[in-house]
Amino acid sequence: MNWKVEPFGELDGRPVEQITLKNSAQCSMQLLAYGATLRSFVLPSGLDVCLGYDTLDAYRTSDGYLGATIGRNSNRIGRAWMELDGHRFRLTSNEGRNQLHGGYRGFHAHLWEFEILENVVRFSRVSPDGEEGYPGTVQASVTYQLLDDGFAIEYAAETDRDTLVNLTNHSYFNLAGQGNGTVLDHILQMPAATQFLPVDAEKIPIGLLAPVTGTALDFLEPHAIGSRTDGALVLRPGDYDHAYALCGSGDRSVANLCCPRTGVALTVRTNMDSVQLYTAGGLAQRPGKYSAGYGPFSGICLETQRYPNAIQVPAFPSPLLRAGERYLHRSSFRFCW
Ligand code: BGC
Repeated sequence: MNWKVEPFGELDGRPVEQITLKNSAQCSMQLLAYGATLRSFVLPSGLDVCLGYDTLDAYRTSDGYLGATIGRNSNRIGRAWMELDGHRFRLTSNEGRNQLHGGYRGFHAHLWEFEILENVVRFSRVSPDGEEGYPGTVQASVTYQLLDDGFAIEYAAETDRDTLVNLTNHSYFNLAGQGNGTVLDHILQMPAATQFLPVDAEKIPIGLLAPVTGTALDFLEPHAIGSRTDGALVLRPGDYDHAYALCGSGDRSVANLCCPRTGVALTVRTNMDSVQLYTAGGLAQRPGKYSAGYGPFSGICLETQRYPNAIQVPAFPSPLLRAGERYLHRSSFRFCW
């Protein structure tokens, strides 16, 4: 195992660093202290399977949250408010009247402290009381571990006052290599994704679960991402931006993904109860790393998290973190090549 730390620009006069970890199997990953972001994952063949940018400026000014840590809340909160023990909190609304991915300056847009321990990089930050409207001071950490064949992420958080914590990672994977066409030919299976969360016109979950059976959201058996539409939920082949409720509990397999062009496969596991499948239909054309070009369907995000908008749906598992409790989320991403 070896590692190096290099400069990757400056934010508000503070240096932003990039950390590279490499293992004996010659897999390497690059992480940024900006947003506790995964910038690349490179297989022994040299194939980089994650989308990212060349400059800090591109990370700061582009939408899409490439590789970033999302917090305090992943996905949307309808009309940007939350109620907790009789108090109503007004959150910032950065997507129309709703909040997306933690607000204007969510966890993705902050500089994190970090320490390196062997094959692990542990990022930490304090999210102050009132940040983006949320109550409580939250001490958060995101720990990336380089494995022999992939990586694991462990998120932990504690608060001094009851609040909402629901973190994820927003990496876009392309198993043909970043910038190498779309993921529409990738074969996907999501064995625990028996139900999904129907949404309204603003993509806010309406508070019910529905079976995937009979819809184009059904990935219980493997098939190509771009092979189905259903005239209702999936109008363009491969255009997914849907939250699934995962059956079972504890660490379990969420997704198996394989690229028929390269034979590279990815298995995702998590202890969370939901995954957002986002195939980047909304990713506008833009330059990516090393002269690559990105656009719609250039990558696939498998965002492991709590049920979106659960704060407003009493029937959903609670996304609250109470003072004195510890939030713990573990997900892993392992490749075959
Ligand atoms: C959401 C999409 C959103 C995208 C932004 C995804 O996590 O599900 O609706 O457009 O993030 O990059």
